Amino acid sequence: MFDTNKNLLNEIRDRFCHVDHDDQQGSRIFFENAGGALTLKSVAERSAILAAIPDNQGRDNQASKELVNIINQSKADIRVFLGAAEGPVFVGESGTELLFRLISVAILGAPEGGDVVGSTLEHPASVSACERWSKIANRNFVRVPHNDETGTVTAEDYKPFITKDTRVATILHTSPVTGMSVDVEAIAKLIRSVSPDCFIIVDGIQHAAHGQMHIDSYDIDGYAISPYKIFSRHGYGIAWVSERMSTLPHDRLIGSPEDNWELGTRDTGSYGTFSEVVNYFDWLGGHFTDSNDRRARIEAAGKAIHKHEKDLTDAMLHGVDGQPGLVDMPEVGIIGGIDNPCREGLVAITLEGMSAVDLVSVLREAGIRTHARKADHFSGNILIPLNLDGCVRVSMCHYNTEGEVAQFLKVMQEIIAAF
Ligand SMILES: Cc1ncc(COP(=O)(O)O)c(C=O)c1O
Repeated sequence: MFDTNKNLLNEIRDRFCHVDHDDQQGSRIFFENAGGALTLKSVAERSAILAAIPDNQGRDNQASKELVNIINQSKADIRVFLGAAEGPVFVGESGTELLFRLISVAILGAPEGGDVVGSTLEHPASVSACERWSKIANRNFVRVPHNDETGTVTAEDYKPFITKDTRVATILHTSPVTGMSVDVEAIAKLIRSVSPDCFIIVDGIQHAAHGQMHIDSYDIDGYAISPYKIFSRHGYGIAWVSERMSTLPHDRLIGSPEDNWELGTRDTGSYGTFSEVVNYFDWLGGHFTDSNDRRARIEAAGKAIHKHEKDLTDAMLHGVDGQPGLVDMPEVGIIGGIDNPCREGLVAITLEGMSAVDLVSVLREAGIRTHARKADHFSGNILIPLNLDGCVRVSMCHYNTEGEVAQFLKVMQEIIAAF
């Protein structure tokens, strides 16, 4: 996709910090985007500018008023970006903290009894929150088994576990281990058809960077993302809640608005930097549509990102630039199947005769950054049923290139040849 328009790809790459090197290793290919994507230069610059301002919000001076403007603008930006017309958006400590907050509020606020339903595909953030708060609120926590072969979970999988007593349900939008997406809309539709008032909370943290969020069409109650995984910086998470969820009892100062979820002094830098992310999507989408509508440009960017990432994962699997793909290397195992339409920029692999940790080290020495996932409390839910004690996660984003994929394949071939 972008590889056929080198100028655009160069422009895209020029907008990110450390695109092909870092200060510690020097040159390197960055295929560890699921652990934290590259940061936009505009984010780094805005973050520094806002960090220098001593003023607080709500004071009678121009600097203070400007901070409030930045926050309000950012909330409008986030809303357009997520495709959420109504319901509060707010910043918290991290994706994990926000999922705990959303899930605990839903579990404590739903009518008594009944079930909390999540799937075995989910990240421990949702699972731990569901388990802890279900016990506290005397509810059954039910887990829908995901499909080991496809690395995802479907509405059909949820179906036997959803009853009229399903009070709260959680859905993972994309797995950070298998890289496969989940049809949130279909699962939410199924849940609503059986338990219309169920509170549905979605973990969008791995999905966000891969484009296309349409919250208004999902019919859900909560959505969380982590900005460091979508081109902003560390230090905050972002959540949206539906109007009906926004006024469930939750931690807030006495006398504050009923739908206020912000706790304490707000970090204008968090909001300001996320506006830069939305501005970037807007800029990128402008290359694929003439529309004057910001949301249309963001959607166009999402589609283009998806297409480019599919080209990259296809290249990795089936080969590129004369390099054989992973599919042509019999020693390589691929989690979630080969031509899986749910794949979002990520290929999780095993290599016969070498542990995941060792493969990551050898790839690092060859200038390629990846990450080992182990059968621990983060990834055991995916790896243990597959009888694997580890896998190497090769995770890409739309600024990666087919040239980088070809280099990765060349190194893989050399590693296998050296056995
Ligand atoms: C799907 C998913 N959920 C939750 C988290 C936790 O997010 P955070 O690091 O912002 O707490 C991650 C982090 O990788 C993730 O991939």
